[in-house]
Amino acid sequence: MPVIAHVSDIHIDTGADDAGRSIGRTRAVMDHLNGLPYDLDAVVVTGDIADHGTPAEYAAARELLASRHPLLICPGNHDERTAFRAHLLGETPAPGPVNQSYVTDDFTLALCDTSVPGAHHGRLDDETLDWLSALLDGTPSDRPVLIAFHHPPVPLHTPYIDGIRQRDEHRLAALTARHPNVTAFLAGHAHTPAATTFANRPLLVAPGVVSTLRLPWEPQTDPSHHVHRDLPPALAFHVLDEEARLTTHFRTVPLPLPTRPPGL
Ligand SMILES: [Fe+2]
Ligand SMILES: [Fe+2]
Repeated sequence: MPVIAHVSDIHIDTGADDAGRSIGRTRAVMDHLNGLPYDLDAVVVTGDIADHGTPAEYAAARELLASRHPLLICPGNHDERTAFRAHLLGETPAPGPVNQSYVTDDFTLALCDTSVPGAHHGRLDDETLDWLSALLDGTPSDRPVLIAFHHPPVPLHTPYIDGIRQRDEHRLAALTARHPNVTAFLAGHAHTPAATTFANRPLLVAPGVVSTLRLPWEPQTDPSHHVHRDLPPALAFHVLDEEARLTTHFRTVPLPLPTRPPGL
């Protein structure tokens, strides 16, 4: 039965004072996945890979994301398409949307680029919708399709994220209405584990590895601090059963205890 790990928002930042933070959290998550006694069908990383989209951040991310399971990565609003292609995927640099598909005997996974260069909200380019339409048209109608991207296309009732969510989503809804085998949508960006619906299908949002969104009804120590930085990194496992039903489990991953300096 296919099991897909869903990781998001690692925000590798090699220049920050606390650079070890994004690196240590990502390493803990990937060590957890690489140490599992089960071969996963895929590990999907839904964007915000490099905090500033620099070649150095992508080089670090590429090393950190080394996976013994099939690994698929799409960009988010913190990513830069040309550097993402060149330094993370090892492909020819190009500024167009980074769209990828992964086809197995059991399912098809479509990774769509919702990034908008220079902006934090999301939108699917016409080129991406055309690409997805052709992929869906060429997929057997009985094969489940999972569509993954960075920006959730619906409000999650958290004002900060809702203001930079995926826009013009009616185009994607119209496309998927013609394809009942689209089983679910997978997203990131919100840095919180969440489950909702879009276009009458489940929409599962992976937690953020680097931080966790502070919900409006949680204590706000400072209105400019949108996230908790002390909660552990987390991820989702999606199980796709024979009836094409998706079951999602959310998991936190313990961080290694800091080593105590000698003499303390
Ligand atoms: Fe993010
Ligand atoms: Fe994001």
